Order: sequence, then C-alpha cells, then structure tokens
Amino acid sequence: MAALRSGCGTTAHRHAGPHAAVTLTLLAALLTCCVRCAQSAKPSNIILILTDDQDVTLGGMTPMKKAKALIGDAGATFVNAFTVTPLCCPSRSSIFTGRYPHNHEVRNNSLTGNCSSSLWQKGPETQTIPVYLGKQHYETFFAGKYLNQYGKKEAGDVGHVPLGWDQWHSLVGNSQYYNYTLSVNGKEEKHGDSYEKDYLTDLITNRSLHFLEDRSPQHPFFMMLSPPAPHSPWTAAPHFDKPGKDKHWLLRQPVNPMPNSSVEFLDNAYRKRWQTLLSVDDMVEKLVKKLDNIKELDNTYIFYTSDNGYHTGQFSLPIDKRQLYEFDIRIPLMVRGPGIKPNQTLQAPVLNIDLAPTMLDISGLNLSAVNMDGQSFLSQMAPSLRNGTARPYFLIEYTGEGHPTPDPSCPKLGPGLSQCFPDCVCEDAYNNTYACVRTLNKEQNLQYCEFADSESFVEVYNLTSDPDQLENIFKKVDPQILQAMNQRLIKLQSCVGSSCREYK
Ligand SMILES: *[C@@H]1O[C@H](CO)[C@@H](O)[C@H](O)[C@H]1NC(C)=O
Ligand SMILES: *[C@@H]1O[C@H](CO)[C@@H](O)[C@H](O)[C@H]1NC(C)=O
Ligand SMILES: *[C@@H]1O[C@H](CO)[C@@H](O)[C@H](O)[C@H]1NC(C)=O
Ligand SMILES: *[C@@H]1O[C@H](CO)[C@@H](O)[C@H](O)[C@H]1NC(C)=O
Ligand SMILES: *[C@@H]1O[C@H](CO)[C@@H](O)[C@H](O)[C@H]1NC(C)=O
Ligand SMILES: *[C@@H]1O[C@H](CO)[C@@H](O)[C@H](O)[C@H]1NC(C)=O
Ligand SMILES: *[C@@H]1O[C@H](CO)[C@@H](O)[C@H](O)[C@H]1NC(C)=O
Ligand SMILES: *[C@@H]1O[C@H](CO)[C@@H](O)[C@H](O)[C@H]1NC(C)=O
Ligand SMILES: *[C@@H]1O[C@H](CO)[C@@H](O)[C@H](O)[C@H]1NC(C)=O
Ligand SMILES: *[C@@H]1O[C@H](CO)[C@@H](O)[C@H](O)[C@H]1NC(C)=O
Repeated sequence: MAALRSGCGTTAHRHAGPHAAVTLTLLAALLTCCVRCAQSAKPSNIILILTDDQDVTLGGMTPMKKAKALIGDAGATFVNAFTVTPLCCPSRSSIFTGRYPHNHEVRNNSLTGNCSSSLWQKGPETQTIPVYLGKQHYETFFAGKYLNQYGKKEAGDVGHVPLGWDQWHSLVGNSQYYNYTLSVNGKEEKHGDSYEKDYLTDLITNRSLHFLEDRSPQHPFFMMLSPPAPHSPWTAAPHFDKPGKDKHWLLRQPVNPMPNSSVEFLDNAYRKRWQTLLSVDDMVEKLVKKLDNIKELDNTYIFYTSDNGYHTGQFSLPIDKRQLYEFDIRIPLMVRGPGIKPNQTLQAPVLNIDLAPTMLDISGLNLSAVNMDGQSFLSQMAPSLRNGTARPYFLIEYTGEGHPTPDPSCPKLGPGLSQCFPDCVCEDAYNNTYACVRTLNKEQNLQYCEFADSESFVEVYNLTSDPDQLENIFKKVDPQILQAMNQRLIKLQSCVGSSCREYK
C-alpha cells in the first residue's frame, strides 16, 4: 500500500435527504470529496537532493543550517548512514539501482569500469528509480551531475537520455560550476562563466522551481537534484596527519608530518567550498517555500544525502575519498515527509542502496517485484506506515583505480597508482581494492576488511572503543570473531537481491 495522505473517507451519500436544496449541497460536498479523495489516493511526491563528496564525520554538514532546520528538524536524521562504495560513479550507480557494486558492475569512474558505459545503459540503467516510479505514474525530473562519464562521445553523447526521465537537465562529465555543457532532454546546451546565467547550483534550483510550477498536478512527481561537489570543512580530528603505520600499503606511503604545502592546499579547498555549500542550503529553502506555495509540502518526501564522504588530512592523506574509514564511507541523510515525526534522530544503519527501495515503497510498489539488494527504511522513519527490523551487518566494497604507467609529475613513483597530488602522495592504487563487513548493533560495532593486494592485508577496528580507527586489532582479536566476519564477507560478496538481506 502506498504511503498516502490521510484519506477523507466520507460516505456523504448515506445522508442524502429528500429536500432538493439539501441534496444539492450534499452533491456538491460529495463532488468536493471525490476530488479530494482522488487527490489523497495519489502517492506522495519524492525529492532527492544528492550532493557530491559531502562528508558528515568531519563537520561537512555544519554550514547547512537551513537544510537542517527544514528537513532534519522537520523529520528524521539518520546518524548511521553509509555508502556501500566510496567513489562517485559506483556509488551513484548503487543509488539509482539499489544494488551493491558486484551486482551493477560499475567498478570505477572510467568508461572501461562501466561508468555510463553502453553495457550499463543496456543493463542496470533500465532498472532504476525513475523507471519504476514512471510505472507508478510519477512525472520525473532530473537536474545536475549524473555519472562522471555521462554525455561523452564514447558514452552515447548528449543524445542519450536514460530511461525513465520525463525532464532531463544533466551535466556532461564530472562536477563543475562554470564553463560546462548540459544535455537538456538530449540537446546540447553550453554554459559559460556568468554567475547570473551559469552558476550550476542556482541553475538547478531555478529549473526545479519551474518544473514545480508547470507540472501536471494530477500526477505525483519525483525530482532529483544533484548539485556539484562541496568539499568538507577542515576540522582537526584525532586522525588528522596521523601516520597509518599498521594500515594497508597505500596508507603507509604518505609523508608524515604532511608538508606545509599540503596543509595549505587543504585550507584552500576548505575556504573555496563554503560558498558552494551555502548555495545548496539556499536551494533547500527555495524548494520548501515553493512546495508550500503550491500546497504540496505535506505530501512530499524530501531526502538529503551525498554520494560519499571525504577526508582532508586524515592519516596524512591530503584530500579524497576511496578509503574504508568512517570519514569516507559515512554520508549525511535527512528525510522529511508524511508519517515522519519531526526531530527524530535514528540509529538504525541505512545504506545508499536502500534509497531506491524506500522510494519505491513510498510509491506503493510491491518490493518483491523488483530485484534490489537494499531494503526500504520507511519502517525506520515512519513506523505508523510500516514496520520492519534493522539490519545487523552489511557490506562495503571498492575496486581501486590506478594507472598502468608512473605519474609523469612524480617520476619516482612506480606504476599502479593514481590521484597522486599534491606532494606526490597517492590517494588510490589498483591494490587499494577491498571488501569490508560492518556490524553495527547494540552488541557490536566492528569493521572487518580484506584487501586484494600482495599481502592479503586485513584491517579490523572496534568502533566502540576506537571510533577514529587508530588501531588495527587484527592480531589481537579473538580468531572466532575473525572467522565469523570472514564467513559473512564471503556470503555478502556474492549476494543478489533477497540473499543480501538474509543474516546469520
Ligand atoms: C525541533 O527541535 C528544535 C530544537 O530543539 C526546535 O526548535 C523545533 O521547534 C523542533 N521542531 C519541530 C517541528 O518540532
Ligand atoms: C560491465 O557490466 C557488464 C554488465 O552490465 C558486465 O558484463 C561486465 O563484466 C562489466 N565490466 C566490468 C569491467 O566489470
Ligand atoms: C571559462 O572559459 C572562459 C573562456 O575560455 C575563460 O575566460 C574563463 O576564465 C573560464 N571561467 C572559469 C570560471 O573557469
Ligand atoms: C536563477 O533565478 C534567479 C531569480 O530569477 C536569477 O536572479 C538568477 O540569475 C538565476 N540563476 C541562474 C544560474 O539561472
Ligand atoms: C610549516 O609551518 C609551520 C607552522 O606554520 C612553521 O612553524 C614551519 O616553519 C613551516 N615549515 C616550513 C618548512 O616552511
Ligand atoms: C507482494 O508480492 C508477493 C509475491 O507476489 C506477495 O506474496 C505479497 O503478498 C505481496 N505483498 C503485498 C503487500 O501485496
Ligand atoms: C508498528 O508498530 C508500532 C508499535 O508496535 C505500532 O504502533 C504501529 O501501529 C505499527 N505500524 C504498522 C503499520 O503496523
Ligand atoms: C577501471 O576498471 C577497468 C575494469 O576493471 C580497468 O580496466 C581500468 O583500468 C580501471 N580504471 C582505472 C583508472 O583504474
Ligand atoms: C601495491 O601496488 C603498488 C603499485 O603498483 C606496489 O608498489 C606495491 O608493492 C603494492 N603493494 C601491495 C601490498 O600489494
Ligand atoms: C570492543 O570494545 C568494547 C568497549 O571497550 C568492548 O566491550 C568489546 O568487547 C570490544 N569488542 C571486541 C570484539 O574487541
């Protein structure tokens, strides 16, 4: 059953009296009721705001004052939300399909790793949120960054509009604020560097407001707004510039302490990103005002989240994501909407692969008809509409990116590495390929990770006693626990659909 606005449920005809005037009045009342009842039978609208690289662990949500007031305080804030893979293209592919990377097979940000590739377009892209919501008669709208390779020649050019979208305003390539190209319903639209005409976050806001004014009110709508990236503000945490000496190979390479030039680089990134976050905050305010004006606010779910977290100097890594640590895998998640009580802080662990099933659940679709690995969290935030139980553990998986040749600006480095900046510290490597099981419940908060590298490296953290992941306890922990975690990992790495939700 769909998550509906409270029905009017009147049975006016039973009271129809003999007097014509009374009958007319009642008829009018009945007609009004029919209109209202028809409206309330309409499933709720859904808006997804997806930022790029916004962390939650290092204070990345601090500048989002309006978003917190208008979404979080008006609904639920999930304090244990995770991406199942900390890199844009694989993470976004997981959001759209509700699947772990081993099931959508988008491995990295390159075309050869299936980022917006033709195999993706023929396969997983035909089974995404807008496709299913379209079947539920939703009108769908997208604006902003889609997948990193989207719109490039080899990826079908701007003419390729993914299945399921009625209105499509998508950025070609990776996040940019100015001087970019959009695909507007399959037609190329070039933008320059005028703040008034081109600033991408504002353009996304403007077009979304127009969509809300012009859409057909008899249909529910799904709107996805995907502004370009804010980086996280730099905050000195216990792992800032801490050497990762008991960690996997890549984490043992950075210079420690970090050179001043690296620290300056971080500071600069921090300063530059504030404005971008503030524009996203304004976007939320304008949207909520508009929804209120068109009387749809009470019938709309608004989700606010990010594709992955971010780090700035943690374990002496300058800036990036791609690691298994909390700062990279935790994401912000706030939701407001029908049936969600205000000011809730929810502990249940939820994943980005749960967004699709949650939205389809809201639309009234029977989830047993779709092949998704995630599970609806509507029950967590709105128990009056659904009941369900939290998952005890889950999988995080990542395939490292590298280059077959050494980075030309750092000739001393060997092949197999990537993202070597600044000061030749590399953020990624082919062998930064890992899979982790995370338990997160009242009894245990443990992370167990296996690397596909020449050392078959294992990292284990007890997040209860060591929330900053400073000590790898692999050599200390009870071997029975290691064995149980390894078994869960093996099972999850090949799970599909419902078997991803069976726990032992
Ligand atoms: C949520 O909590 C804040 C801070 O305590 C309070 O100001 C606000 O009125 C609450 N909002 C709702 C909708 O209850
Ligand atoms: C890309 O995805 C297709 C299925 O859509 C899969 O057959 C192929 O193996 C994937 N490629 C990689 C490199 O994982
Ligand atoms: C955009 O491109 C123009 C022309 O190449 C250039 O002058 C301008 O500086 C660029 N703007 C930004 C913000 O990069
Ligand atoms: C967005 O709309 C506002 C108000 O109409 C306008 O001032 C602004 O220039 C527009 N920005 C973009 C990027 O379209
Ligand atoms: C790096 O910065 C610190 C603190 O600002 C300063 O004390 C130190 O001299 C600088 N080192 C170099 C090599 O510039
Ligand atoms: C969903 O579909 C399954 C399988 O067809 C069926 O067993 C189940 O009762 C349905 N659930 C609802 C709520 O209709
Ligand atoms: C879910 O459980 C709660 C508490 O037991 C109950 O109040 C609520 O009505 C249930 N909701 C549904 C949809 O069954
Ligand atoms: C992306 O994945 C593909 C397939 O595994 C691989 O061939 C390619 O080298 C990867 N790209 C990078 C930059 O690592
Ligand atoms: C990881 O890859 C790098 C670059 O190819 C190589 O130098 C290093 O030995 C590898 N380390 C492990 C543990 O596999
Ligand atoms: C994790 O730390 C907590 C708190 O110190 C402790 O009670 C628990 O036994 C530890 N778990 C493991 C597996 O070491």
